[in-house]
Amino acid sequence: MRRGLTGRAFEMLACGSLASLGMTKMFSPITRAVAPLSASRRLRSTSSMQGYFELARERSKTVTSFYNQSAIDASAEKASVRLTPATMLYAGKSQDGHHILSSAKYLQKELPVRIAHRIKGFRSLPFIIGCNPTILQVHELYIRAYHMLSDFPAIKDQETEAQYCKLVQQLLDDHKDVVTMLAEGFRECRKHLQDETLIRSFLDTTLTSRLGIRMLASHHLALHEDNADFVGIICRRLSPKKIIEKWVDFARRLCEHQYGNSPRVRINGHVAARFPFIPLPLDYILPELLKNAMRATMESHLDTPYNVPDVVVTIANNDTDFVIRISDRGGGIPHRILDKVMDYHFSTAEESAQDPRMSNLFNNITNSGPQSGPMHGFGFGLPTSRAYAEYLGGSLSIQSMQGIGTDVYLRLRHIDGKGESFRV
Ligand SMILES: Nc1ncnc2c1ncn2[C@@H]1O[C@H](COP(=O)(O)OP(=O)(O)OP(=O)(O)O)[C@@H](O)[C@H]1O
Ligand SMILES: [Mg+2]
Repeated sequence: MRRGLTGRAFEMLACGSLASLGMTKMFSPITRAVAPLSASRRLRSTSSMQGYFELARERSKTVTSFYNQSAIDASAEKASVRLTPATMLYAGKSQDGHHILSSAKYLQKELPVRIAHRIKGFRSLPFIIGCNPTILQVHELYIRAYHMLSDFPAIKDQETEAQYCKLVQQLLDDHKDVVTMLAEGFRECRKHLQDETLIRSFLDTTLTSRLGIRMLASHHLALHEDNADFVGIICRRLSPKKIIEKWVDFARRLCEHQYGNSPRVRINGHVAARFPFIPLPLDYILPELLKNAMRATMESHLDTPYNVPDVVVTIANNDTDFVIRISDRGGGIPHRILDKVMDYHFSTAEESAQDPRMSNLFNNITNSGPQSGPMHGFGFGLPTSRAYAEYLGGSLSIQSMQGIGTDVYLRLRHIDGKGESFRV
């Protein structure tokens, strides 16, 4: 069983099931090699929806060659078209539903280009990394997604749009473990690599691009939903306090499961603030930061687990951006590791495991069911959260008061603020 990490918290709560889409077979695992389809078969197949599904079924059995991908090469040359959330907001919701068709048409053009860029990234990895079986598996997932999406017939009406939504939903689900797989794959082969910056830049780009793709895809699917507070994935009146509370509950449950207790969390500052924003990236970042703060609090008070200091979350809102500060009294980040905590794969999880007071707690995790996520693991929480924050034109910074505790500042730009907005 894979241990989940960044993104898993949200995806665990939000993903639909394969069976409900009735497409489980079509997208079954992909590691068998089969000869590519003939050109005539291809033409015939793409001429109708039924043809498309036939083609898709074949594709699902196919690991198309990693080379000779001229269509992918051509798409990778194209520039991607990134939208501001304001464009997404104002293009959303027309009475006659034509916004859904235009959104689907944009997605149909855009997704293959973005996926082709990622495939190019996999091809540029050093040989020894690209050959890692887990990384190859992700590479294959991307190639397959590329073909599924680009073989789909032109979206002209509601019926094809509905089928396209099924495909997009299915691919979102197929790719939900990609962060964990990349974390595992790179952990296995990083010993072969001298150049740390290569891993950082590959993971920063791949993970943030994945976030962008998931935001666009989820936005399109959510345009079908009728919720007055939302246009697609954009919440018109997001309450930072509410979303923080949601993830505090989640992190406290994990923490109690692992440590027998959890710190209380006080939220102060601009608690009444409400503004338009996309909750999805916060759904990835907040649980990671809260888990870290709670873990540090509990592990620095292992002798008094039922008497631990509160974690304090402060919200500051202004007309350019908003800041969420998470302050814990978990002893701070020691000087010797401060430079490393933002590195992918840096974690003190193993050190914790060696503390004899932790042994019972760790046995608890090993015996627990799949619903209980870990408090720490791959050393992906901070670097991924920072990459996401920067992708959104914001930042993630840490101030540590060694001996006392840590303050983490998450700063994000408003989508309708004075400064220039980020693009998805
Ligand atoms: N609030 C904090 N107080 C003290 N140390 C911290 C804090 N946040 C992070 N750290 C240190 O930074 C390391 C890296 O954090 P990060 O969130 O990236 O990885 P992790 O928590 O070990 O694993 P993951 O988040 O992938 O499950 C942690 O192992 C811990 O040693
Ligand atoms: Mg963490």
